[in-house]
Formats: sequence, structure tokens, C-alpha cells
Amino acid sequence: ANDSPVDSNSALLIDPEWEFPREKVKIDFCLGEGEFGRVLKAQATNIAGIPGVTTVAVKTLKDGAGEAELADLLSEYQMLKELSHPNVIRLLGASTVPGGPVYLIMEFASHGSLKSYLRRHRPLETSNNPEVAARIVNEHSVTPKDILSFAWQIAKGMAYLSDMKLVHRDLAARNVLVATGKVCKISDFGLTRDIYVDETYLKRSKGKVPVKWMALESLSDQIYTIKSDVWGFGVLLWELVTMGSSPYPGIAVQNLFFFLKSGYRMEKPRNCSHQLYEIMRSCWYENPSQRPTFHQLTQSLERMLEDGT
Ligand code: ADE
Repeated sequence: ANDSPVDSNSALLIDPEWEFPREKVKIDFCLGEGEFGRVLKAQATNIAGIPGVTTVAVKTLKDGAGEAELADLLSEYQMLKELSHPNVIRLLGASTVPGGPVYLIMEFASHGSLKSYLRRHRPLETSNNPEVAARIVNEHSVTPKDILSFAWQIAKGMAYLSDMKLVHRDLAARNVLVATGKVCKISDFGLTRDIYVDETYLKRSKGKVPVKWMALESLSDQIYTIKSDVWGFGVLLWELVTMGSSPYPGIAVQNLFFFLKSGYRMEKPRNCSHQLYEIMRSCWYENPSQRPTFHQLTQSLERMLEDGT
């Protein structure tokens, strides 16, 4: 098995700076799983210079995963090594030596995905009646200010990625994590690509395509740039103000392109300010160059946070 293509590839990728012994990772349970991968909660001893036991999240592959999925995981590993920002999930180490599963060991975000966090913090009562909704607000609720802060933090993380010349390609509430202190961290870099590296991954057949987060040019021509990430950020803003609803309700994915190409966009959700809706709409300009940059988005959201609007 040692001279299989998979093993020789991963052996080439062993990085002594990041390699962490698998035996020092004690798995607790599975936090979530996709088609080919899973994320485990675990305890790591003396990792990344932190003395003692640290709770970590371990990304690994399922038995059914093939070489394409391993390539995505290793590509995510290379990507995460270069990244250091408070709003981007941090790599702590990796176990890649042959003889066991590949582990990407990452900081643990105690509240899980932003999508699930928002849905868990929806008011219990239907929000149709504002008087009823107002009465059940408590210290655990997510306030309009929290929503703005989440948007601002994610914009900052994305501005950092854009400075690093990276395109995320799958920005959505499901791929943002919430850590202690209501800190948002962009995660899931499996599809992330360096914009200067050529696009040999276009023919991925198996991977599910996040159609409802995709820009027009990605849907029509598979073009992914930081500007298509800005489009996805607009959809993420919509997810934020609707507390984790699924975008384009009632529209089938196969009709989405024609809907958007005709100029239709999602309408302003209830309890979304006109100001925030304008930002959302600016992310969805058909012409990518008309969309704001993540630096501009960060500034606009920062101003709204300061104004309390
Ligand atoms: N789910 C996926 N990645 C995670 C992480 N880093 N922390 C907590 N839950 C996660």
C-alpha cells in the first residue's frame, strides 16, 4: 500500500512545520459530515505551542472518498498554512504520515456553523407580531447589531483573503463558523483557489454546485473571481437577516439562471434596513466590476455599526 499513488503523493506533502502525531489526537465525536468528508471534535495534546489539552476540529475523509477529495483536502491544507486572520479558521496542525487517515487539525469554533447558529437563535414565536417578538428577546438572542457585526467580520475576513489573492468559491452561512464571543470565522477552503493558478479543477463532476450562491458569470461561464465571492457575500447577507433561511425560496435551481439574467433579484426581507438591502443589491450587479470590493463592504458595514443603523 505504501507505493500506491495516494501514499506517495501525501508523503511528498509531509511538512515538518505542521505535522502532528495522530496518536496525540483523541477523537470525541463527529460534528458533521458531507458526502466524502467529516469533521470530528477531538482533544489534542501540546499542539501548536499550546501546552496541555486543546479542543480541536479534525477534518478527515470518509472511506468512500477518492483521489479528487484527497486532492481538495490537501489543497485546503496548503491554503490554511498561509492564512492568519481572526475571522478565518486557523490551522493548528495536520497528520499526513502514511499509515492512517489524513487529519487537518483546526481551531474549534464552539457554536458551530453560522447557518445552524442563526436557526437556533430564531425567536420561538413567529416574528409576524413585532410586539410578541420583542418580549422574548433575552441575553441569548441575536440582535440586529449582532447581525451587522457578523456581516462586518465576514467582510473583514474576505478582504484579507482578497489581499492574499484567494478566491473562496463557496462563501455561504454553512461555511462560516461561530466561535466563543460571537466571532465569525470563514472556513471550508476545499474549493478555494489561488487566482494565479490555472483552473484545472473545472471538470469536477461529483461535487455539488452551490447554485443559489453563485454569480451569473459563474453559472454561465464557470468564472470565479473575488467579485463572484462578493455575489456570494450578498446571498450570505440575505441569510443573515433572515436568520438562516434558504435563499430563493420557491425557485427551482434549474430556473435560477433565467430568473437572474432577466434582472430579477431576491426582494428585501422583512426587518432588513433599506441601507443593508442596498448593499446586498450592489453585490448582485450583473457586471462584476460594478460590485463593491470586500474592503468597501467592510467600511460600509463598519459605518452602519457605528451609526447604530
Ligand atoms: N464544524 C466544522 N468545522 C468546525 C470547527 N472548526 N469547529 C467547530 N465545528 C466545526
